[in-house]
Amino acid sequence: MLQELILPLPDDFHIHLRQGLDLANYAKSAEQQFGRILAMPNTEPPINSAEAVKKYKEEILAAAPSLEVLLTFKLNKNYAEQELLEMQKNGAIAAKYYPLGVTTNSQDGVSKIEDMYPTIELMEKLDLVLCLHGEEPGAFCLDREKEFLKHLEKLCKTFPKLRIVLEHVSSAEAVECVKNLPQNVAATVTVHHLILTLNDIVGDSLRPQNFCKPLPKLPKDKAAVRSAVFGGDKKFFLGTDSAPHALEKKECLCGAAGVYSAPVAIPILIEEFEKENKSELLSNFIAGFGADFYKIPRQTKKITYIKKEWQVPKIIDKAVPLKAGEVLKWQK
Ligand code: NCD
Ligand code: ZN
Repeated sequence: MLQELILPLPDDFHIHLRQGLDLANYAKSAEQQFGRILAMPNTEPPINSAEAVKKYKEEILAAAPSLEVLLTFKLNKNYAEQELLEMQKNGAIAAKYYPLGVTTNSQDGVSKIEDMYPTIELMEKLDLVLCLHGEEPGAFCLDREKEFLKHLEKLCKTFPKLRIVLEHVSSAEAVECVKNLPQNVAATVTVHHLILTLNDIVGDSLRPQNFCKPLPKLPKDKAAVRSAVFGGDKKFFLGTDSAPHALEKKECLCGAAGVYSAPVAIPILIEEFEKENKSELLSNFIAGFGADFYKIPRQTKKITYIKKEWQVPKIIDKAVPLKAGEVLKWQK
């Protein structure tokens, strides 16, 4: 008989579903893997009003009706308290901060985080979570996350009750910083930062499908991210940062950053937790710690995975997925 693994239906606390014609496919593919998602707001146009939050939720649900959809809005301007309350009413649980120019669709990002403090103060009062893309513009690419940490530390001091998530943590310094800050600071971890280093982008052949922000870094950084996750630290939970771009947008003169991981995220995680003899910690990572941090009920629905090899397609939804063409051991 095939080996089975029963897991809680996973939460993804950081996913990009895009907009327009692409949205339906990406939302459906998320629905096949996750029960609940936190959708990122760096769409074109961005999600930055109560109306946009409402519309985006409706569009996602129209394509993926069984998905529980949680939303973010872009923190690239100051909002009045009434506007924040309306966004909250429409399903937004967090604001996403993008520094200017550091990643996909951040041309409208912020150059000085202190400019957003009036809104951040209101967010603390309303118990909205602040999600940070933690990279310092202009710094050397491998140092951008490390150099952002001063802003995180200052935010914590200035707004001691604010819940903050450092998204897609990718460096040893950031892991250490999050561990040392109070319990209202957590981090999401992607599947790709658990398994890739810079070598997997430029070490041998150029692999644009693995190019993303923040960059997968040195072996010591990957080791630090892994030790936080496989140590069962409740401050570190899954946010895949699955960020699909059509192949021609990644393989061109100025290629887009983002790894498309949603279709393979859970099978890869099962393997990685198995490899580390930590399978008992997987449920909390994919459907426990994140819900607790966001103060939402833990998922009660289950999903069964079976141990049966399958080959990851070379293209899914016009994009090259993580581990394209490779064989994975687990499937639904
Ligand atoms: C993301 C995208 O494509 O939207 N890209 C990425 O490399 N991670 C944006 C982001 O989360 O930085
Ligand atoms: Zn992202």
